[in-house]
Amino acid sequence: MRKPVIAGNWKMYKSPKEAVAFVRELDAKLKDVKDREVLVCPPALAIPSVAEALSFSNIQVGAQDAHWENEGAYTGNLSPAMLKAAGAKTIILGHSEKRQYDAETDERINRKLKNVLKNGLRAIVCVGETLKERETGVTEGVIETQLKGCFSGIGLGDLASIIVAYEPVWAIGTGKNATPEQANEVHAFIRKWFATRYNQEAATALRIQYGGSVKPENIKQLMAQPEIDGALVGGASLKADSFEALVRF
Ligand code: PGA
Repeated sequence: MRKPVIAGNWKMYKSPKEAVAFVRELDAKLKDVKDREVLVCPPALAIPSVAEALSFSNIQVGAQDAHWENEGAYTGNLSPAMLKAAGAKTIILGHSEKRQYDAETDERINRKLKNVLKNGLRAIVCVGETLKERETGVTEGVIETQLKGCFSGIGLGDLASIIVAYEPVWAIGTGKNATPEQANEVHAFIRKWFATRYNQEAATALRIQYGGSVKPENIKQLMAQPEIDGALVGGASLKADSFEALVRF
């Protein structure tokens, strides 16, 4: 059985001080939670203090991106090795905001994924179509191209360290979420792709999160879908009550 994984992607919100106060509050609220994984991904600057504050917690710490090299002349970047040393154990890769604003490509995501795995970390790999792509009926083709690019050269043995997040770009931060059925359909397509590319067993074990305007009001219906194994949440993960409600869907 796939253990649900609820992740908060804080994006560019919260200073280190605010982040620590926030996770202390969260930790107190979520102490009894054992049947699902809980992950927070603060801005990188807050990772060391958040990881320290959560060192005896069941809440895990992740990062929002990582470079394809471990060091080098790459101004403004952070490597998975550094993020690991700071306390992050999971790295989000290929978020649509990185694709949209920072020229992220499938080829770069693939290189980053290889380096994340080489560092013994886990990755959340994001895929998703734009509104125009959905409206012109090319959603599956777009997702397939992204998967092919991101997973090029990734071996079967690595899949245990990978979570896929389906995040339709048109649903992120817009308040417009995909219906549970729409999301489930794409999740099923993604799982089928993994079954074909790897094998059925690995595809069945793979966790696929949905992301895009997930909130306490809609998470139950989303998580009730057989192919949806968790949520990657932006806006609604920034308040303790709301994130607690999401975790307890
Ligand atoms: P949102 O963001 O929940 O604010 O739509 C989701 C995401 O970007 O991961």
